[in-house]
Amino acid sequence: MNKEILYPTDCNEAYQLLIAQLKAMVESEHNGLANLANSTALLKEFYQDKINWVGYYHLITDELVLGPFQGKVACTRLIKGKGVCQKAVSEKTIVIIDDVHKFADHIACDSASNSEIVIPIIINDQVTWVLDIDSPHFSCFKQEDAKYLKNFTDIIKKVLIDND
Ligand code: SME
Repeated sequence: MNKEILYPTDCNEAYQLLIAQLKAMVESEHNGLANLANSTALLKEFYQDKINWVGYYHLITDELVLGPFQGKVACTRLIKGKGVCQKAVSEKTIVIIDDVHKFADHIACDSASNSEIVIPIIINDQVTWVLDIDSPHFSCFKQEDAKYLKNFTDIIKKVLIDND
């Protein structure tokens, strides 16, 4: 539907364009699920081959249940106390794992994954969703990525709140 976008080579400029695209996307559609779904496609377009999986999990009771994503068929439920996503839930903070093979509790949905970042979406002091991104490269995600992905999920959070 859309033309392929060539992102600037400068990391900050690239992320600023990504954020502008997300803002434009959510301004033209208010449905939460539609925006969650398209935001994963946007992130896949943005990262291209830097990532092999991107998607949301919804926290329902203690379990993370699979939401919109791009990538291979994934685990549908992540139980409490295990895995990188649940670590982000229990610590209510962004988790970056440089080498998932060294993380004892890592849940491998795609064997191509070597590093991972998880951003919790916190509404009324409760984690409600997490954004999970897997990369086939080791140490793919840095603090700079975390900063912009937090901005990204803050926009998604507003859409989810407004559509409750
Ligand atoms: N690796 C995650 C599980 C989800 S998949 O990567 C899509 C975890 O350890 O929680």
